[in-house]
Amino acid sequence: MKTVFAHRGMSSLAPENTLSAFSLCRENGIQWLECDVDILADGTVVLSHDDTLERCTDQCGSLYDLTHSDLAKIDAGNWFADAYEGERIPTFEQFIALVNQHELNINVEIKSCTSGWENTLRLIDGVIAGLENLNPERELIISSFNHLALAEFKKRRPQTRIACLFENANLWDDWESILQACQAEYIHPEDKGLTKERILKMKAAGYGINVYTVNDLARANQLFNWGVDGVFTDIAHQFPKKYKKAF
Ligand code: G3P
Ligand code: MG
Repeated sequence: MKTVFAHRGMSSLAPENTLSAFSLCRENGIQWLECDVDILADGTVVLSHDDTLERCTDQCGSLYDLTHSDLAKIDAGNWFADAYEGERIPTFEQFIALVNQHELNINVEIKSCTSGWENTLRLIDGVIAGLENLNPERELIISSFNHLALAEFKKRRPQTRIACLFENANLWDDWESILQACQAEYIHPEDKGLTKERILKMKAAGYGINVYTVNDLARANQLFNWGVDGVFTDIAHQFPKKYKKAF
């Protein structure tokens, strides 16, 4: 079974990384979603791709200067559509509750804190604490572009499957030594420039392969036929029913 991951939730139907974007997965038959997590100044783990507010909210500034009480004052939906006015940046706690309720499977991408390693470690510990509330029937993959953070996560929670993310520009022939050092089960390469030859090598080495971000059904089909296990996409709702689950 090939996997279609709703990238940042159903991010072309609702504002990315919000509870609305995640809620739309179930009604569109998409069981797996991808999300990004980062941390506020008071240790609250939140869902956000950027560590600044200006792209996806009505404000400017750094996430690392905020605390939990600030979230109620920030609109993370009215930039996208009127229907989403009042949408908030969700906490990881709210996210896990929704995932349990909707019976979704999750790829949580740990963002590399630009505020330093100490904060990255706080984020890892915050994610691990939050995962205690995840229903054990839910499936989980933790990923990161920061392979040092990922290795640290694996040391602290070895039972969780992890994935090394690579941008095309950083995917060199030593990729397997990086996966081995992290004890990763998956590789998550960028779609751009990804070749059949490279996929066959990754497959032969025994890794699961999930490719980001694939917003073209024909390209997704080609990747699947080459042996890729999953794709991250902003248009999960447009995929045919063979990739979907009847909830
Ligand atoms: O996890 C896949 C993908 O989300 C990685 O890139 O920048 O969209 O978080 P980005
Ligand atoms: Mg991501």
